[in-house]
Amino acid sequence: MILVTGGAGFIGGNFVLDWLSNSVAEPILTLDKLTYAGNLATLEPLKNDPRHVFVHGDIGDQILVKRLLAEHRPRAIINFAAESHVDRSIHGPSDFVQTNIVGTFNLLECAREYWNGLDGHDKQQFRFHHVSTDEVYGSLSASDPAFTEVKAYEPNSPYSASKAASDHLVRAWFHTYGFPVVTTNCSNNYGPYHFPEKLIPLVILNALNSKALPIYGDGQQVRDWLYVGDHCSAIREVLAKGRLGETYNIGGWNEKANLDVVNTICAMLDDLKPRADGKPYADQITFVKDRPGHDRRYAIDASKVERELGWKPNETFETGIRKTVQWYLDNPQWVEGVVSGSYREWLQKQYS
Ligand code: NAD
Ligand code: TYD
Repeated sequence: MILVTGGAGFIGGNFVLDWLSNSVAEPILTLDKLTYAGNLATLEPLKNDPRHVFVHGDIGDQILVKRLLAEHRPRAIINFAAESHVDRSIHGPSDFVQTNIVGTFNLLECAREYWNGLDGHDKQQFRFHHVSTDEVYGSLSASDPAFTEVKAYEPNSPYSASKAASDHLVRAWFHTYGFPVVTTNCSNNYGPYHFPEKLIPLVILNALNSKALPIYGDGQQVRDWLYVGDHCSAIREVLAKGRLGETYNIGGWNEKANLDVVNTICAMLDDLKPRADGKPYADQITFVKDRPGHDRRYAIDASKVERELGWKPNETFETGIRKTVQWYLDNPQWVEGVVSGSYREWLQKQYS
């Protein structure tokens, strides 16, 4: 079996669902703290699936993690658990340091002790897969080449700095202890089950609820978008065939300016669910104060994972964003479940 941390979040949840959609898949043990970003509703389809066990807990809890490893004896750990929202990291970096750095450190230490106690084949096949972000590389200008795996780390936000620190710990555990790690650094994801504090789901839901569509600064910041299902398939490939101690950049060669992304979503909604007054959703676009230290451009060079492991994304931005918009239209109950009081407080704090 495999241990997935952060499996009730956006990418972890998609990963668990995708993995278990294969009828012969190995079982999964999900460990998740269920912060505001963790939603058991995402894992609802697995409620009666004997191949899935959910444990509510913190990756920083040494006693719990050691017990889970001893009891379930996973052959791999995939670490998705993190605080992941840049704007929240600006308001309050402490949880980011605690979970992303100290939590990862604890997970590495517990896993190393467990791995040291394994023998032969079990020891040889064990993997610790750390899921990270392209944001650790910093910001690009319009003419810079895309990030490769050898680009120096230049994190600019408390979020990216905490992820960079965790990547360094993972790297050091390989070089110092020979602990079997792989790291993936992925570009911005979008797709089903995305918590509506991030740009794409926020814009879809605000549009449908006749609210402003907030664009930070001039809206010309560029992100490189990857459909979440493609990120999950890349993680499966790297887990199965990635070289130990290596990092792999994951991306879909889909650079888009934020304003273009928002206009694309508006046009899609005009088509799929026109406004009652017949006016375009783009009328709701509102330019707001920029994010402090806002990175201008991210772009991933994914040649290494394509060349070494033969991975390629299935979705283009156009096919992926259509699926995503349709998913939010089809799943109002999931949305209803996540927009709790604490979500409304966040919107008030960030956008008022
Ligand atoms: P998310 O915020 O949607 O989910 C994070 C999950 O981790 C939640 O379920 C939360 O409850 C859980 N969690 C938080 N702290 C925990 C702790 N201490 N112990 C156990 N569980 C805890 O994040 P996401 O977008 O799914 O991102 C998953 C991973 O992928 C993160 O490591 C993130 O840095 C990375 N990543 C995200 C993106 C993106 O675009 N979202 C892109 C590249 C990499
Ligand atoms: P986000 O989804 O928060 O991802 P990240 O900051 O990790 O890239 O933001 C994506 C881009 O959209 C980023 O450049 C910030 C911008 N943005 C807005 O313009 N308005 C918003 O309300 C949000 C949440 C983000």
